[in-house]
Amino acid sequence: MREPYPRRTPHGVRRHQPSRAGTLRRLAIPGLTPRTSFQDVVAERTSTRVMSSPDIGEIGALLWHAARIQEGTREGVQHRLAASSGGLHPIDILLLRRRRLYWYDGLQHGLLRVKTSRDVVDATYSEARRLLPDARGDFLVLAGHLEVTAAKYEHPHSLLWRDAGCVLQGIYLTGAWLRLAVCALGILGDQLVAEAYGSPAVLGVGVCAVGRVVDQSQNGGAT
Ligand SMILES: Cc1cc2nc3c(=O)[nH]c(=O)nc-3n(C[C@H](O)[C@H](O)[C@H](O)COP(=O)(O)O)c2cc1C
Repeated sequence: MREPYPRRTPHGVRRHQPSRAGTLRRLAIPGLTPRTSFQDVVAERTSTRVMSSPDIGEIGALLWHAARIQEGTREGVQHRLAASSGGLHPIDILLLRRRRLYWYDGLQHGLLRVKTSRDVVDATYSEARRLLPDARGDFLVLAGHLEVTAAKYEHPHSLLWRDAGCVLQGIYLTGAWLRLAVCALGILGDQLVAEAYGSPAVLGVGVCAVGRVVDQSQNGGAT
């Protein structure tokens, strides 16, 4: 993979949104937050593979803390929990919940329904089920916008993947803090992302299951 380097003259940042998104449904801003210490979060962070369906408030709390845009956008630069190359934050989160796909609007803390074909949704659930047969949670699909990182960097690919890793770790730590079950999956979510955005410059860069912890003693081993 080629070494990235900053462009001498950056391009303007243009962010794609899913092409067939509905109207915004705002999520509640979470109220009381857990008093768990960071030390305990670090000690308890784990991949949990047995989970049940979370309620929308739990998903909203996770998204608020892990993915909302805390400051932005000045020339495409934002601040969120995750670190990001150039502060560009090229990773969007799609939520696959009860067989419906939503785009998370991190500025307005809301969800927009995205139209997808049933076949692609079914295929994603069956791939996820193959990897995590006991995860009855929701799925967060990470969509990486290559053109966003390419606005500032030549050879942006590796930066995009590293940004996705930062987002994933933020989800894991926030999940541990909120006592939610989280497990990354080896699949990319590429088909869903391709359908949602219809652009070859937006890539599926990871999927993660999120749900309620049901029985930690059944939590399977590493894969
Ligand atoms: C990118 C990525 C993909 C992963 N894919 C899977 C997977 O497909 N199935 C699974 O059971 N665990 C998966 N995991 C979880 C790892 O197996 C887990 O992080 C590892 O075993 C260490 O366990 P811990 O997270 O509890 O510390 C994945 C983790 C990452 C970061």
